[in-house]
Amino acid sequence: MSQTRILALVGSLRAASINRRLAEAAVQTAPEGVEVTIYEGLGDVPFYNEDIDVEGSVPAAAAALREAVAQADGLLLFVPEYNGSIPAALKNAIDWASRPYGAGSTKGKPAAVVSASISQNAAKWAHGDTVKVLSVAGASVVESAHLHFGVIGQRFAEAHPRDDAEALTELAGVVHELVEAVRQSVDA
Ligand SMILES: Cc1cc2nc3c(=O)[nH]c(=O)nc-3n(C[C@H](O)[C@H](O)[C@H](O)COP(=O)(O)O)c2cc1C
Repeated sequence: MSQTRILALVGSLRAASINRRLAEAAVQTAPEGVEVTIYEGLGDVPFYNEDIDVEGSVPAAAAALREAVAQADGLLLFVPEYNGSIPAALKNAIDWASRPYGAGSTKGKPAAVVSASISQNAAKWAHGDTVKVLSVAGASVVESAHLHFGVIGQRFAEAHPRDDAEALTELAGVVHELVEAVRQSVDA
């Protein structure tokens, strides 16, 4: 099989985001034949508005996101929790990628969700909402690839997740499960 392309979408836009660092660690775990790429530019995507979602004149940042999702074999989402739910930038990205209705680039796409927050709850509410939103958007959520990181402010205060052996093992497991789901969907 040719290279399996996994697109990572990070729900935190801040430069020092720990979710982003977890995504960077996941990039590093990709085995041969698998490429994990972090999508840059989620913060440039305008708020979804049906008035500007017009074939031929979709805003460039939204069109680029759709194209990147379409080109990916699987999606790997990294989700912090904002007020008990999914951050707006990530929800907005899924909304854009879910359209046109019934033919969006999320349709049938295997997707895994990793959540991470400073609380003990490990952003599980945001995780659950992201799974729901992805499912409604037509993605094929890979339940065996669920992963949660809690108290990340303390755990990753000193060390990047790529230097945390347990985190690397868990992230490698998520990438493995997602790639397996991609391969099964191709064989089906
Ligand atoms: C607007 C806002 C709302 C937040 N709400 C929650 C929350 O409901 N639950 C939680 O565990 N953390 C909450 N947090 C804290 C985040 O878990 C924390 O900022 C985390 O580090 C974000 O991930 P990042 O490091 O990838 O940016 C909130 C943070 C912000 C900025």
